[in-house]
Parts: sequence; C-alpha cells; structure tokens
Amino acid sequence: MLVFNTPAELQAWSLEKRKAGVRVGLVPTMGYLHEGHLSLIAEARKRADEVVVSIFVNPVQFGPNEDYEKYPRDEQRDLERCEAAGASAVFLPTPQNMYAPDASVFVVEEKLGQGLCGARRPGHFRGVCTVVAKLFNLALPQVAVFGQKDFQQAAIIKRMVRDLNFPLEIVVAPIVREPDGLAKSSRNVYLSAEERQNALGLSRSLALAADAVAANGSCPSQDLRAKMAALLESMSLRVDYVELVDAETLLPVPEATAGTVALVAAYCGNTRLIDNRIL
Ligand code: PAF
Repeated sequence: MLVFNTPAELQAWSLEKRKAGVRVGLVPTMGYLHEGHLSLIAEARKRADEVVVSIFVNPVQFGPNEDYEKYPRDEQRDLERCEAAGASAVFLPTPQNMYAPDASVFVVEEKLGQGLCGARRPGHFRGVCTVVAKLFNLALPQVAVFGQKDFQQAAIIKRMVRDLNFPLEIVVAPIVREPDGLAKSSRNVYLSAEERQNALGLSRSLALAADAVAANGSCPSQDLRAKMAALLESMSLRVDYVELVDAETLLPVPEATAGTVALVAAYCGNTRLIDNRIL
C-alpha cells in the first residue's frame, strides 16, 4: 500500500492511473477508522480498480469551539486497517500542505446546508465542500464513497458534484451500527459507560419515528418530533435538533411518510452525536 503525504505526490499518481485507464475510487475520511469506514472502502473496491483512502482531520470544517484539537487520531492503526481492507493508497497530508497560509478560495453550497447541522455549525459545510473538492482534484476518482451517517453532508456533496460538473459518481453507503443500534462514529470514543448507554436514545428515537410511519402510513411531523424529543430527553440527552425532512430538498415536511428522512442531533454529556433514518 502506498502512502502519500503531499498533494503533488497523490496527484502525480492519479494522473498516471487516469492515463492508464485505471478506475480510481476515493474514500475521504478524518481517520480513527471504524467498521463504518471499512464498509466504505469495501464499497469503493467493488466499483474501482484502485482505492485511495484520505485521512485528514480538516481544520477548516471545525468551528472555534469544536473538537478539532481533541478529535481522536491513530495514524498507525488507521494505516493497518486500510491495508487490511485492501486500499491501494492512503493520502495523509498535513494542514500546512493542504492549505496555503493565504488560501482564499472556498466552496459554498447555498441551499441544502442552511438547516440541520449547517444551521448549528456555521462554516462547517464550507469546510467540507472545500476539502472534498480539493480531494477530488488530487485523487481524480471516477467514484467516491460517503456514509449515510452524514446524510446532509452526502446530499451537499452530490449537489456540489452536479453543480460544479465534477466528472465522478457519488455513492452513499448505509450506516453501520453497533449490535444495540448505536451508529458507529469516531466520536463514540468520547463517551463514558453511562453516556454510551444514553446514546442509544438517538437510534431509538429514529425507530420510534419509523414504527409510527410504518403503523399509520403518515404522521404529523409536529407530534412525531415532540415524541422523539421526549424520548431523547428521557435518556438524559440534550436535543440539538429533531427534524423530519424531504430526502431531496432537506426541507421540513408537515407530514412524515415513507421516504421522509428523520434526523437527530443531541448532546450526550459534552459529545454531540448525530444519526438519521429514511422512514
Ligand atoms: O465525513 C467526514 O469524515 C468528513 O466530513 C470528510 C468528508 C472526510 C471531509 O473532511
């Protein structure tokens, strides 16, 4: 497995692959890889000849009071996992070689990023779109795989690819969960034993919504959101948002029906967790 530390090294390799007609798949990550990430690599391997995994905790997508400094990192283990998962190459740049000190061009999506995490984390999706656009220009992939766990992120990246004509396909892979339902996340490592138990409130609130829609066909969103929030609070979670939105526009719907997306963000102690489910 190759390891590239600079944008120039990765881009030179990708240009060679493109010239040789080799299909490249990209899996962008922030490292601290878990089974969710490994499922993205497996998905990319099915669709490409060579898979590049990028591991970069992107400072530009973190707010000033967020967890950039303490975000978990374990380069050695990540490299072993990538190799075992069959990655051809890992891109492991530093912030200094990704961003010029006077970088002044950023990519901004102006609609899908207005609500949900975009409203709570100003500048977050500008940072995500910018780094992902850069990664596309460096890895030159024919396909890139993202997780449904970050539903809004995936929708925004698909929109960016459409609106800026990036010549590649975006694949969104299903959420990987712990046996008890908790969505896998690098941030789960922050949770104490008690918080880990309370964190089940997220997937349970989504199950409540899915069951209600399955039983009734449709449910007024207002009622459903109140029930979901009550469940989250009953498990000592502080609600950041509970939303029922249209899968394409990400706008709130008055009635939740099959195909509506339920999304939750909640603080479990000091840790902010997100989860979602297509009802
Ligand atoms: O989902 C993530 O881990 C990050 O937002 C991404 C897509 C790697 C961009 O930094």
